[in-house]
Amino acid sequence: MHWGGDLGTLSESQLARFVAAQTVAVPPSSIGDPAVLSLVPVASEGWSGTPGLTGHRGNRTVEPSFSLADLAFTEENRIAVTLADSAAGLEVRIELSLSTEGLLEARSSVTNTGVDRFILGRLGITLPIAPRAREVLDVTGRWPFERRPQRRELAHGSWSRQTRHGRNGHDSPELLAAGTLGFGFRAGEVWAVHLAYSGDHDVYAESHPTGHAVLGAAELLAPGEVQLDPGESYSSPQVLAAWSAGGLDGVSERFHAWTRRRSRTRHRRAGDRPVILNTWEAVYFDHDEEQLSQLASIAASVGVERFVLDDGWMIGRTDDSRALGDWIVDPVRWPNGLAPLVDHVRALGMDFGLWVEPEMVSLDSDVARAHPEWVLTGWPERLPLAWRNQFALDLDNPAAFDAVLAQLCVLVDEYEIAYLKWDQNRDLLGGSAHRQTLATWRLMAELNARYPALEIESCSSGGGRTDLGVLQFTDRVWPSDSNDPLERQRIQRYSSIVLPPEVIGSHLGAAGAHTTGRETDLGFRLATAFFCSAGVEWDLTKASDEELASVRTWIAAYKEHRFLLHSGVTVRADPVDPALELHGVVAADRSEAIFAAVCLEAPRDAVTTGLVFPGLDPGMEYRVEPIDLGAPVRYFHAKPQWLLDGGVTLPGRILSEIGIAWPPLQPQQALVLRAVRV
Ligand code: DGJ
Repeated sequence: MHWGGDLGTLSESQLARFVAAQTVAVPPSSIGDPAVLSLVPVASEGWSGTPGLTGHRGNRTVEPSFSLADLAFTEENRIAVTLADSAAGLEVRIELSLSTEGLLEARSSVTNTGVDRFILGRLGITLPIAPRAREVLDVTGRWPFERRPQRRELAHGSWSRQTRHGRNGHDSPELLAAGTLGFGFRAGEVWAVHLAYSGDHDVYAESHPTGHAVLGAAELLAPGEVQLDPGESYSSPQVLAAWSAGGLDGVSERFHAWTRRRSRTRHRRAGDRPVILNTWEAVYFDHDEEQLSQLASIAASVGVERFVLDDGWMIGRTDDSRALGDWIVDPVRWPNGLAPLVDHVRALGMDFGLWVEPEMVSLDSDVARAHPEWVLTGWPERLPLAWRNQFALDLDNPAAFDAVLAQLCVLVDEYEIAYLKWDQNRDLLGGSAHRQTLATWRLMAELNARYPALEIESCSSGGGRTDLGVLQFTDRVWPSDSNDPLERQRIQRYSSIVLPPEVIGSHLGAAGAHTTGRETDLGFRLATAFFCSAGVEWDLTKASDEELASVRTWIAAYKEHRFLLHSGVTVRADPVDPALELHGVVAADRSEAIFAAVCLEAPRDAVTTGLVFPGLDPGMEYRVEPIDLGAPVRYFHAKPQWLLDGGVTLPGRILSEIGIAWPPLQPQQALVLRAVRV
């Protein structure tokens, strides 16, 4: 009947009248009863949209017609609805819970109560949206250009984002939102769904001539992938949904608060995310103990707190054609094992992280030679196309699962690893995505249980696996292999609608971005990485003393402000000129905030006013001043007076609603500002 604003407390009779008043008339040439949208809409109710459940038994399509079997208020704000159709032999249980942050958690399960096998086609969560939701926004992308927004009118039909990667994929519809015309970050009414799942997705917005419009989400199952014998059940992944009257920022507020409280990140205190040095773009596969030790020394000297040895450390792994699955240190390039490097890293006061790709295998590996049956195939049994020269290991095979787990445990124990960068670099293209995804989650859960302090980063060729499901088991995601700050501005802007900034890794790369070839100023790169879980992915042995001094200043500023950056409310202004974006983080009590004014390309106008700082308290007064990140910011011409004066003191109402003069930033420049209540 309603998903949206709080209706207040309704009496039984008010509720009955509300429901009656929502009930539509019967139009000509239609079913004889008023159409009512159910939680599991199916054809027997007159629903011709995407069904909530499909399946078959033998050669018969099952056409369920559910009745309410039970409705239980299990906890405050949590209900469990049981629907049953004994003739069809199905029972569906839907749990809906509205978290204190106003995030709707939905999950459903189906049990085969019949006498023969039921083959499930789909089981989804369908949520109603108001007729005024006329536009759809979702994200797509490719390597390394993840989270590109796309928008369209919600016309009759279905805007369906189905993914078949066996992982989320770079085009993952991590966010699918419908809203009132022109909805933005700060304005408009928005309904948004996220499937907290690391496998194949089916996420959609649908509008029908019947007058119904819905958002839906389900695991995309392959035919025959889930077969339920009598008494067996299937549980859907969790669907998370947020409504906001205040644009996408309102959606983020609910998702971020929920994630901070519910996922594995709750084990961490805000502000204790270590600064990382990751070796990938510094040395790639070219591992040399002496050079990496030198890199570690320089990293420690500028303030890095965690040294992560990326791909290339395993036996024979001098390129990407071999050794996946052999989680053994290369005796040629690491004759003394990793211990000398690890000891050095620890002596410098940093902790140690290691790259692994536990779900994968190279055909050129001892494990594939010994156990070719562990390489994941579909049916008929044949190898899928190679992808980056590699194949998936069948983790649903208990022997393969145990072997990988054992190897990972040896490494974690031997080197007292604080952090695993867990990579996954291919689409499956064969085998059961459902079983492989659940087996991967089980492997992560097993490591969580054995090593509660071990942190894990979820990486999948960059941003191929960044959902809130995997964050039950992991602490950080790598949203893209792009360290190009211009691309990163967009990637972080759209990743952070669902994910809080502290779980999004962001690294300072070299001046020439390895993925795009674009040259950018150090200041822009520093300002971009500042707002997430910051790190460095640059060969600092080649950086000048001046550059190292900048990095040192930046890291010191990051450490000073990371509590606020990682606990505050994310805000973004809706740009008037698409070249000029402002985003920031405001403390929960609104006493303090940090913003970045960003110029992406040449602005439309020579001088611009309206640099607004959303989220500030209109009733408070603030001092706004630049934060020195250690590198210069370039301007087209003279700065406005407030910047020449070193800052400005104004009421929050003026700062957040009218704004001040934009600094005349050149393209690909950013100015980071701090607002403090006076
Ligand atoms: C893909 C990841 O996204 C990179 O960061 C790096 O770890 C490489 N894989 C290593 O092979």
